[in-house]
Parts: sequence; structure tokens; C-alpha cells
Amino acid sequence: MTRSDDWPRASLNARGITKNFTGVRALAGVDLDLPTGKVTALMGENGAGKSTLLKILSGDYQPDEGTIEIGGKAVTFATPFDSRAAGLRVIAQEPEIVPFVSVAENIYVGALPGSRGIVSQRQLQDRARADLERFGFERFLDPATRGIDLSPAQRQMVEIVRALIGDPQVICFDEPTSSLSDSETGVLFDLIVRLRDEGRAVGYVSHRMREIFQIADTVTILRDGRLIGSREIRDTSVGEVVRMMVGRDLSTMFERNRHELGEVALELEAVSTDDVTDISLTVRRGEVVALAGLVGAGRTELALAIAGDRPVTAGTIKVHGVAQRFRSPADSIAAGIGLAPEERKADALIMVRSVRDNIALAVLGGLSRFGVVDRRKERQLAEKYIAQLRIRTPSMAQLMQNLSGGNQQKVVLARWLAKATDVLILDEPTRGVDVGAKAEIYAIVDELAANGVAVLVISSELPEVLGLADRIIVMQEGRVTGELTHAEATEERILTLAIADHFSAEGVQP
Ligand SMILES: Nc1ncnc2c1ncn2[C@@H]1O[C@H](COP(=O)(O)OP(=O)(O)OP(=O)(O)O)[C@@H](O)[C@H]1O
Ligand SMILES: [Mg+2]
Repeated sequence: MTRSDDWPRASLNARGITKNFTGVRALAGVDLDLPTGKVTALMGENGAGKSTLLKILSGDYQPDEGTIEIGGKAVTFATPFDSRAAGLRVIAQEPEIVPFVSVAENIYVGALPGSRGIVSQRQLQDRARADLERFGFERFLDPATRGIDLSPAQRQMVEIVRALIGDPQVICFDEPTSSLSDSETGVLFDLIVRLRDEGRAVGYVSHRMREIFQIADTVTILRDGRLIGSREIRDTSVGEVVRMMVGRDLSTMFERNRHELGEVALELEAVSTDDVTDISLTVRRGEVVALAGLVGAGRTELALAIAGDRPVTAGTIKVHGVAQRFRSPADSIAAGIGLAPEERKADALIMVRSVRDNIALAVLGGLSRFGVVDRRKERQLAEKYIAQLRIRTPSMAQLMQNLSGGNQQKVVLARWLAKATDVLILDEPTRGVDVGAKAEIYAIVDELAANGVAVLVISSELPEVLGLADRIIVMQEGRVTGELTHAEATEERILTLAIADHFSAEGVQP
């Protein structure tokens, strides 16, 4: 990272890239330029072809047509190894982490220091600690932690460190912040600015408009596998970028309808678990309550406890006024609670089954008569949500594993939205979802609330929290630090409660 300024740097130029999968044209003659010393954002709706393009650059996929030049020289990548040898690194949307080995081992997978001799854990961890410090991640990651114990944010950081130790010329990030909190995003952005200022070419995929305008120099837009165009960030606007992405005007602001609130559906009285302490809250029928806070504040742990997936060590959970003792998720589902988890791929997806089966999974009981699944109803349900959430798939029979990341998210979310529960907990419901579909998800949440569902939303995106919630409960380090009504809430107030006495408010860019 600290090579001299005259280190030769290379830009990347791809021309006419085309890639077909069975029944899907993922890319059709796309050009991409990643110049040195610039951050180039790549944007487009879920399924537009962004990850496919990056997987061609990383050597994971071979293009059907097209050429790639690095520093003016034509290159072809038969394998990921060739791409790395040419000085290119792509940080994937789904980091691959080996579960039962340490962070240090995960970082140096395939590049173990002194690999001819035997490497001691101590050496490896010292070296990992030094690399983590070099990139600013030391306060988030311990080199000794096992892969399986890492949060999504930590996994992402391991992937980034792993990519940067190879000193690449061209670096592409595929939605690196979708699991990062604001402070972690701040660290990543400092790092990206450094990489750019060192003259490297940076490619950056994200659905978060604000980030693009904060970090990118240029934005390149794909729609349906085609290049729509590029704009200098200083010459464009959010409105123009959204228009180029979705091909129509779209209001980016979402305003919910407020509903009449009914009785208290979910009540927590001084609930504690191994990770959260003394949590009291209520959610009424027709109400949307948001849990805000930094990643690691204990929001997901709390959600899992409410859903019967973590033991409650003290306090009481009441549903419709009745105290409950959940021994498993099945108990909480029986009591009318549904949880759409944060880790959708690992926890919930059945990747080798169809989109239709995955949506129908939620309501299997309701769709079968005398134990026979009603195929027609199953099809209607899948059709409805594919249309409503704009799930991009050639058919409802497509396997989940062939969908783009954001479209997989939408399918799992559809499953929970379709399930008739009294209390619905949504953990980061729009993570990785494009701007058009976000608005649809908000509209569905609004409709559920109008129908008397009590909704608890966990979200790290402040505009989402502000747009969606009637009430906002802020957590920090396993405790509630404050509660704001919709009218009182501002981004600053939420952040102040989320980081009080922990980090200084400066340096955390919302
Ligand atoms: N292995 C595959 N087999 C079949 N179709 C695929 C495969 N990989 C991707 N596709 C399809 O190619 C299209 C582009 O997918 P891609 O993953 O590149 O989208 P994306 O722009 O990265 O979307 P997201 O924002 O959701 O991550 C999608 O329609 C997707 O379903
Ligand atoms: Mg993608």
C-alpha cells in the first residue's frame, strides 16, 4: 500500500462483453473503463449484470464475446489465477470464508507466508494483525476468531484484506457495504480513497445512492445486461442516475401512510439474553417499530430471542398479552411470530430449489388440502410476488442459485411477507435490493401494517428507518439507549443515541 508514487499503474478497459446463461442474456456487448486514480461506480437494478461483469473480470466466468485490456495489453483469464496474476482483484458479493479456521488463516488462504516451512499460528496471527492495522480494520477483527463466528461485516473485511495483500492494480468491490454499519463504512471509504490516491483503478458496485455520490468519480449504468451510459459524478444527479437505471421516473423518497394503532401485539418486559440486557418494548397492531443501532448493537440477537432461536435468561415476552416461553423457533411461529432473518442465504434459502418452491415454503400448510399441495395456488402466489417485487427471473421454475444476489433476497423476503403472521420481524429487509424494489418492499410493509400486523424492522439504513417507522428504538452494546417518535427522529438524533460515549460523533459520516 505504501509503494512510491511512480509505481506504474494500469487502467482496465473492457469492450463488447457478452455473456449468456441458459435462457438468460446476462450481458450484451458491454464496455467498461476503470481508469487509474479514479473510483468508477457500476450501478443497475437487481439482475442488470453487475456481478456477472465482475465475475468475468475475476476469471470466474469466461465471456462469450469481448476483449479486456489492462494497461493497454490484451489479457484473457481462463481462471481466477490468471486475473490475479494480471493485477486484478475482485471482492465478491458473497465472501467465501472457511468456517473452522482462524481469520488469519482465512486471510492467507492460498498464500500462506513461508508456505514451504511449517507456519506457526503465532507467526500467522502476528502477520494478520499487522495487515489488519495497515488497512484500518484492527478494531473490528481479531486474527484468532474462527470463520464461523464472524459477522457478515467481519467476513467482508476478511475478504477485503485478503484481496489487498496481493497489492493489486485494479480492485473491484461488489456491494461491500451491504452488511457494514456506518462507522465500518467510514473505514472502508478511507481505504478506498487511499487506494485511489495511490493511483489504483477502483470499481465499485452498490445500490446505495448516497455512497456513490460520496465516493465515486464516475458512474456507469447497466440495465438488462446493456450499457446505458456513464456520467461524471459532479455533472449528474440522483434523479438522472435512477432514471438511467430503471428507465422511468421514480420517486426516491418514501412516505408511509400512518395507520390507526390497535392493541399491543408484542411486548418485551426487561428481557435479557447472553447478548442483550434489560430490553423493554412494545409493538402494536398496525405499528412499524424500527430497531436502529450500529452493527453489533445486539439487534439481530434480540430478534432471534423473540423468535425463539436464542434462550431468554431473564424477563418476559408477551404476545397479545400472554407470557410465552419459546423453546424453539417452531414455538414462536405457533404463537404468530415470523422472522425474516438477516443472513438469508445461509439461514433460509434453499438454493437448489425453484423460485416458486421457495416463495411457497412460507405457506405450505395453507396451500395444501388433505396433505396435497395446491399447485395452482402455489403458482398464483409466486406470480404475485415476482411481479410485485420485480423479481428478475426467466421463469418461476428457475433455481434460486441462478438468481442475482438481490433477487435471491427478494424471494426470501416474499416468503415472509406472504406468510400471515401477527408479528413480523424483518432483519435488514432491503439489504442488496435495488432502488425500485425497495419502494415496493416499503409499500408491502405499509400494507401489512394497514392490515393490523405488528412490524419490527431492523435496519442500518437511516433513511429507511426514518421513512418506514412510527417509532424508533435505538440500541447500543446490547441495551436500549433511547426511543424516538417518527416526528422527533432525525439522522443525527439516532446516530447520537447509537454511538453515545462509544465513538466520537465526528468521523462517523452518516
Ligand atoms: N449461473 C447463472 N445461471 C443462470 N443465470 C444466471 C447465472 N448468474 C447470473 N444469472 C442471471 O444473469 C443476470 C445478471 O445477474 P447478476 O448477478 O450479474 O446481476 P446483478 O446486477 O449483480 O444484480 P444484484 O444487484 O441483484 O446483485 C440475472 O438475470 C441472473 O439471474
Ligand atoms: Mg450482484
